[in-house]
Amino acid sequence: MGASQHDAGPGPHAPVLYQQVLSALEPRAGGRYIDGTLGGGGHAQGILEAAGPDGELLGLDRDREALNVAARRLERFAGRAHVRQASFAAMGEEAAALGWDGVDGILLDLGLSSMQLDDPARGFSFRREGPLDMRFDPSQPLTADEIVNHWGEAELAGLLRDFGEQPRAGAVARAIARTRPVRTTTELAGIVARAAGRSRSGVHPATQTFQALRIVVNQELEALSQGLEASLGLLRERGRLVVISFHSLEDRLVKQFLRRESRDCICPPEQPVCTCGHRATLQSLTRRPVRPEAAEVERNPRARSARMRAAERLSAARSLHKRNEVGSGG
Ligand SMILES: C[S@@+](CC[C@H](N)C(=O)[O-])C[C@H]1O[C@@H](n2cnc3c(N)ncnc32)[C@H](O)[C@@H]1O
Repeated sequence: MGASQHDAGPGPHAPVLYQQVLSALEPRAGGRYIDGTLGGGGHAQGILEAAGPDGELLGLDRDREALNVAARRLERFAGRAHVRQASFAAMGEEAAALGWDGVDGILLDLGLSSMQLDDPARGFSFRREGPLDMRFDPSQPLTADEIVNHWGEAELAGLLRDFGEQPRAGAVARAIARTRPVRTTTELAGIVARAAGRSRSGVHPATQTFQALRIVVNQELEALSQGLEASLGLLRERGRLVVISFHSLEDRLVKQFLRRESRDCICPPEQPVCTCGHRATLQSLTRRPVRPEAAEVERNPRARSARMRAAERLSAARSLHKRNEVGSGG
């Protein structure tokens, strides 16, 4: 590993689980890597340093502003860093456009960056007054304002339950519907706090509502499923997939994907004979998710909920071998 924590710069904008990501990806000279969530480019910088002198990186982000910041940070890797505005769901197409038919590592550091959270105009934070926006890509049509002010009360309640795990979803949706139009983030946070009451965990009650809105505005779970599937088509033998998630809905999706892809049979357990023909494509490298150490959380409280999972691409022959070992009945 060629980069140290110091290279990425400590502080609130430091990339989360930086050393752990580099250890899991094991970037090497000549390798090709995709950072599907480029953000400020901190992880990407570390990958390019460790993959010097000739390793390349394709960095994607939906947010043009983030790409500008990252492009400046990665300027000195000219020719080795390829920066594109795209969803990681489209990583296959973006890699193909570069003429890449495979990669040695893929990183997804999900959710939003501190740059986005700290900018009131983006509308992600309930602590800063701003418009109800929450789009990673401000050119897309759906905003949080549209959902909050125009969706039906039942739809709103469903969204809060499904994507915010909001225990008082019905009451919160009713309060929002009765107070429309709701124009700013802080106005919405106040309505939610009054309707949901204090949470026992000490977490601000608007946290879950804002999470739910952000997930739906950006179709985050759909993008994650598509990105994970796309990674299978791109990873070369022994290539590494590393995913950092920040809430249980994301982590569950990643965990289920890794579990499915580590198995040779995904038939229902009650089925005596395998008919699915599924073969393991990945070997998990993290039995449990990797969490940040206390010192990192102290330096960067945003890291608190981060969970990293990693896996290695199996070769076709190894998949077959594993299949024989395990037996086709799963
Ligand atoms: C946690 S930040 C990444 C920080 C980055 N690892 C760093 O070192 O600075 C997540 C980034 O992913 C972007 N993002 C979220 N969903 C995306 C998607 N489906 N495709 C591409 N980028 C996405 C966000 O715009 C944000 O900039």
